[in-house]
Amino acid sequence: MDKILITGGTGYIGSHTAVELINAGYEVEILDNLANSKASVIDRIFEITGVRPVFHQVDLLDSSAVLKVFKEGSFSSVIHFAGLKAVAESVEKPLLYYENNVGGTLNLLKAMYETGVSRIVFSSSATVYGDIPIGGHGFTEDMPTGRGITNPYGRTKYMIEEILKDICISDPTFSATILRYFNPIGAHPSGLIGEDPNGIPNNLMPLVMRVARKEMPELSVFGNDYETPDGTCIRDYIHIVDLAKGHLAALSHAEPGVAIYNLGTGRGTSVLEMVAAFEKASGESLPYRTMPRRAGDLPIVFADVSKAFSELGFKATLSVDDAMRDTLKFLRNQ
Ligand code: WQD
Repeated sequence: MDKILITGGTGYIGSHTAVELINAGYEVEILDNLANSKASVIDRIFEITGVRPVFHQVDLLDSSAVLKVFKEGSFSSVIHFAGLKAVAESVEKPLLYYENNVGGTLNLLKAMYETGVSRIVFSSSATVYGDIPIGGHGFTEDMPTGRGITNPYGRTKYMIEEILKDICISDPTFSATILRYFNPIGAHPSGLIGEDPNGIPNNLMPLVMRVARKEMPELSVFGNDYETPDGTCIRDYIHIVDLAKGHLAALSHAEPGVAIYNLGTGRGTSVLEMVAAFEKASGESLPYRTMPRRAGDLPIVFADVSKAFSELGFKATLSVDDAMRDTLKFLRNQ
C-alpha cells in the first residue's frame, strides 16, 4: 500500500489523520518538530491502531534533515499539516509565522522535487476567504480568497495555496489537493488523542476544556451583539474524526493539477450553543462572562460542502454532541 509522510503528524489534526490512514491500510511516517505537540502521541497512535509509525523529530526549517527523510522514505504522497496556527500570536510575530509556515513549506516542496514525490494534500483554512460576504449557503471553493484576511496566519495559508497553484502550472505532473478546514473540534472516541496544545490556546474548545478542568475561572464569550439569533458568532464545527476521514477521501484525488475542497459540516453553531452543548454533555454548568468582541472575528462562517461530497464522496456524519462526548472522554483521560 502507499507510504504517506504526514508533516505535523503528532498534532491535533495530524494524529487523527494518521490513525484513519493506518486503519485504512496505508503505511504512515510522521515528521514533526514537537513545537505544539508531544512525542507520546506516537504511543497513543500505537495503542489505537496497533501500528507504531516511524517518527522523525525534524523541523521543516532544517532543509538537509528534511531532504534526508525524503531520500530514505520513498513516499507516494505528503499530507502537510506542520505549521504554527495561533491567530493572535501571528499578529504579534509575523516573521515567525512567515518563516515557519511559508519557509518550511518551501523546504518541504524542494525535498519533494528532489526525490520525485509529486503529490501533496495541504491543510488550509477557511480563513483564506477573508471577509467576503458568505451568502446564505456558506463559502464555496470558487469564491475569491486573500481579501480581507485579518492576520498573518491566514495569509500564510493563502500564500501557500498560491504557491501550490503556481507549481501545478509549471509542472503538469504535480498534484495538489487543498483542504480548507472550518472549525475542528472533538477527540478520538478512544479518549487517547485529542486537542492538547502546548501553551495558552486561542481556539474555543481548548479554552472550554481549561475552564472545565478549573484551570481558568470562566470562559470569555467574545461579543453577544452580532447579527445572529443569540448575538454570538456562528461557526462550522466539524468533528476531528470526520475531518481526518476527509483526508482519506482526498487521497483518492490523485490527478495532476489543483483541487480545492471545503471540509466542514455545512451547519453553523453559535458560541452560546457550544457552551450549552458542553454543559449538556458534562452535566455541569460552564461559567462564562460576555466580553467585548475579539478583533478579526466574523459573525458567521460556515461551509458549502457540496463539492467534497460530489467529487470525493465525503460528508461529515458526527455532530457537535458527539464531539462534546468525545472531548470529555479525552479530558477525563488526562
Ligand atoms: C470560534 C468562535 C470566537 C475563544 C480560527 C482560525 C481558523 C482555524 C480555527 C486553524 C469565535 C469565539 C473563542 C474564546 C470565544 N484555525 N471564542 N471565546 O476564530 O473561528 O477560527 O480557528 O486552522 O483558521 O481562524 O476559531 O475557536 O478561535 O473561535 O467567544 O475564548 O469562538 O469569538 O466566534 P475561529 P476560534
